[in-house]
Amino acid sequence: MSDSSQEKKPSAKKRTRKWPIVVGVVVVVLVAAGAGFLVWHEQPGFCNAICHDPMDPYVEGYYSNDPNLLVSAHAQEGYECLDCHEPTLSEQVSEAVAWATGDFYSDLAKHDLGTEELCLNEACHVRADIAAATEDWGGTDFNPHASHVGKDVQCGDCHSVHRESELYCNKCHNATLPEGWVDPA
Ligand code: HEC
Ligand code: HEC
Ligand code: HEC
Repeated sequence: MSDSSQEKKPSAKKRTRKWPIVVGVVVVVLVAAGAGFLVWHEQPGFCNAICHDPMDPYVEGYYSNDPNLLVSAHAQEGYECLDCHEPTLSEQVSEAVAWATGDFYSDLAKHDLGTEELCLNEACHVRADIAAATEDWGGTDFNPHASHVGKDVQCGDCHSVHRESELYCNKCHNATLPEGWVDPA
C-alpha cells in the first residue's frame, strides 16, 4: 500500500529539515572525540547512554547472561562492543547521521557483519577448531562448519550475535535445531 511505503521511506523534504540536527550531532561527536571522550566511549554503557532508544536492546542483551545469546557469551569472556564494532571515525560519523535521521537499526535485524574476516583470527576463532567441535554434530557427519556449502556461507548466515541464530542448512535439510535456534526465514 502506498501509505506504508511512504512511512518506511522518509520523504526527501523530511531529510532536508533534519540536516541542521545531523550537522550538530557530527560536530558534537568530533569535538567530544578531542576531549577524552574515547575512554568513556569504550564502555558498553556509552552506546545506549548516547543513543538511548536505538541501542537499548543491544546493551540489554550484552548484560542479559542469556546462554543462547552470543553477545552475552562474549560479554562473559570480557569482550566489549568495540572489540567487534571497529570504532573508526567514519563509522561513528555515519552512525551519528543514521541516528539523527532515524535510519539507525534498532530492530536487532540481521546484518552482514558476521563475516569470517571478523570472527576467524588467532585471537578469536580458528576454523580447524570449530570444525572439530562440530565434527559429529547431531550424531551425524552433518558438520555445519565443513560442508558442501563451503565458502558460500558466512558465520552470520547462521550465528547472530544479538538475537537467536538460524540453521542455514535447513533451507534444504531438516536437521534438529540446537536449543534457542530457529529455522531460516
Ligand atoms: C562478538 C562480537 C560483537 C560484540 C561483542 C557486539 N557486537 Fe554488535 N554486532 C555484531 C555482529 C556480528 C552484528 C550483525 C548482526 C548480528 O549478528 O546480530 C552486530 C550488529 C550490531 C548492530 C546493528 C548493526 C549496525 O552496525 O548498526 C548494533 C547497533 C550493534 N551490533 C551494537 C552493539 C553494542 C551496543 C554492543 C555492546 C553492548 C555490541 N554490538 C557488541 C558483533 C558484535
Ligand atoms: C551453517 C551454519 C553455521 C555456520 C555458517 C557457522 N556455524 Fe558455528 N555453529 C553452528 C552450529 C549448529 C553450532 C552448534 C551449536 C550448538 O550445538 O549449540 C555451532 C557452534 C559454533 C561454536 C561453538 C563450538 C564449540 O566449541 O562447541 C563456535 C565457536 C562457532 N560455531 C563459531 C563459528 C564461526 C567463527 C563461524 C564462521 C567461520 C561459524 N561458526 C559458522 C552453525 C554454524
Ligand atoms: C541449497 C540447498 C542446500 C543447503 C543450503 C545445504 N544443503 Fe546439504 N545437501 C543438499 C542436497 C541437494 C544434497 C544431496 C541430496 C541428498 O543426498 O539428500 C545435500 C547433501 C548433504 C549431505 C550428504 C548426506 C545427506 O544428507 O544426504 C550432507 C552431510 C549435507 N548436505 C550437509 C549440509 C550442511 C551441514 C549444510 C549447512 C552448512 C547444508 N548441507 C546446506 C542441499 C543443500
